[in-house]
Amino acid sequence: MSTGKIESVLSEERSFDPDESFAARAQINGERLAALSRKGESDPEGLWADLAREMLAWHKPFTATLDRSRAPHFAWFPDGELNASEACLGPWIQKAPERPAILYEGENGDSRSLSYRELGEAVERLGAALRAQGVASGDRVVIYMPMCPEAIIAMHACARIGAVHSVVFGGFSARSLYDRVVDASAEVVITADAGRRSGKFVRLKAAVDQALELGEHPVRRVIVFRHSGEEIAWREGRDCWAHELTEAAAPGCPAEQVNAEHPLFLLYTSGSTGKPKGIQHATAGYLLHAKLTCRWVFDLRENDVFWCTADVGWITGHSYVAYGPLASGATVVIYEGAPAWPHGGRFWEICQRYGVTVFYTAPTAIRALMKLGDELPGKYDLSSLRLLGTVGEPINPEAWIWYHRVIGRERCPIVDTWWQTETGGIMISPVPGVTSTKPGSCTRPLPGVQAAIVDENGAEITEPDRGGYLVIRHPWPSMLRDIWGDSQRYRETYFGRFGNDCYITGDSARRDADGYFWIMGRLDDVVNVSGHRLGTMEVESALVAHPSVAEAAVVSRPHEIKGESIFAFVVLKSASAKEAAPSSKTDAMQQALRAWVDQQLGPIARPDDLRIVEALPKTRSGKIMRRLLRSIARGEAINQDISTLENADLVRQLTQPATDPQPP
Ligand code: WTA
Repeated sequence: MSTGKIESVLSEERSFDPDESFAARAQINGERLAALSRKGESDPEGLWADLAREMLAWHKPFTATLDRSRAPHFAWFPDGELNASEACLGPWIQKAPERPAILYEGENGDSRSLSYRELGEAVERLGAALRAQGVASGDRVVIYMPMCPEAIIAMHACARIGAVHSVVFGGFSARSLYDRVVDASAEVVITADAGRRSGKFVRLKAAVDQALELGEHPVRRVIVFRHSGEEIAWREGRDCWAHELTEAAAPGCPAEQVNAEHPLFLLYTSGSTGKPKGIQHATAGYLLHAKLTCRWVFDLRENDVFWCTADVGWITGHSYVAYGPLASGATVVIYEGAPAWPHGGRFWEICQRYGVTVFYTAPTAIRALMKLGDELPGKYDLSSLRLLGTVGEPINPEAWIWYHRVIGRERCPIVDTWWQTETGGIMISPVPGVTSTKPGSCTRPLPGVQAAIVDENGAEITEPDRGGYLVIRHPWPSMLRDIWGDSQRYRETYFGRFGNDCYITGDSARRDADGYFWIMGRLDDVVNVSGHRLGTMEVESALVAHPSVAEAAVVSRPHEIKGESIFAFVVLKSASAKEAAPSSKTDAMQQALRAWVDQQLGPIARPDDLRIVEALPKTRSGKIMRRLLRSIARGEAINQDISTLENADLVRQLTQPATDPQPP
């Protein structure tokens, strides 16, 4: 029965042509994009070499472009030298020293602005302090910070002296922090007393203290920024205040010129097993792609006010907060706090206050804000916005249309950007002003990105709408270089199956007849029902297209006859949840939703189980914790780390069949 095919049953017909007035001013036009794409097909190395010369300030120019001798570990521009922080900030410190580089807003309303000059000085002071503490080029430094300017300063200070930063998201538990510190063998941790979220303090220093009690570790220094003013415990001889170190350090901090391939950072991300992988990125290729995609995808320029809502603890906060937009000379907005705190209009209020021109966020945030209705954004002046972006998961067409209509006021192009921690920067995305968009599709690969869909033997699938493995068939400069300390896992996870040139993304996707890519979900999210492999995301999209449904997550569980069956967790919109509260009506709602999926996607996709819940378990970066839901659906013991769960009490609710949901 099993054909091994990944079947796609979702179809979206709407298409939006580029806005003419946007196109008239965009940096990339159709002709230029076509030329870049042609070159990317015929001579990718030549394309990347041209771009690397044009976009980066090299200390020592490269003469070789791509070294394949250690494939699948590739080296780009291998004899060039530069410093990532200097190449990023230096030109703007020279050209526009007083332009704001960072506009920061705290959850409690604190606001601060740092010019490029001030940012550069702060980076040098901390860089000098780190050097004085014995941190040398190549040493790993763990950064565990709130989303404040000092987090970015710390990243750049490391880069300035050639140290390898490893940012650990401030919402991770002491245990996760400990594991990462040990895996990276970091001797120095940079943190803050506490951060703020949803009106509460996030006690980071206390978590560091706790982490360093958990076992053996290499940490000899904990450098603490005073941020919230919270009282903290102190370990003499190990802990020191950042401000005392920077005051004591000698002025100036010459940038360490490193090889293009020198590791810039590690960033831990989860894979198909529980143990996180330390994704290792190199200096030049990474910076090139971060800067380049700011131009291609965000049409970013010097006078833009760019707000990417991601925390620096995630790759999006690396490429599109700390590096790409600053390398482009734009002003970045950062916000430390929860999206809807203390009111649901907070995001739109920030856009209005700082005159945000380009806004980049995740579908989950869009859906959460959409749930609050159209009136809230209507209260704010969003006329400064000219471009909207999304990242992190497939965006369901309903949320796309809402984003377009209510936030973009039908004026702003939307860029649905597909990429991963491993790819370093955006890979598949519309180029605004050129690409016509279809809600739910990330459209086409950027120039130089040879994305393809292949079957289980690695043969390209050319037939439209047939799902398969999404792969990248030629190395590119911002690709990961390794998994820290586990090269074998690197080779097996990403290159094992289809050869040394073919990077396996772990996602499934299809292409439509126009050559547009539609991401169907992680391959480990693919369900196989009676030999049909379905993307869980498609069932989710169908569910959220129902007028009563706010959010849905779909996982599979083993099924005696079908192999696997579909298990859906559904959050109703508030009005529908009130209506469905009595259990007799819950039953009716469950039946109606199952029939709806049947009708939308066909009986094959009809969920066998459908549980109505108050909320979905999500990490602080907004990703649905699917492994947790899988365990719940399968009735297994929950043994994964749920320390990043926004609402820990939710697990109790999810595990109890909610025939009687509490009205929210
Ligand atoms: C998913 C985030 C659909 C995908 C930058 C990928 C997406 C994983 C999109 C990487 C998108 C990211 N449409 N799916 N536009 N962007 N994904 O490493 O499954 O946190 O493999 O990087 O998110 O997540 P990561």
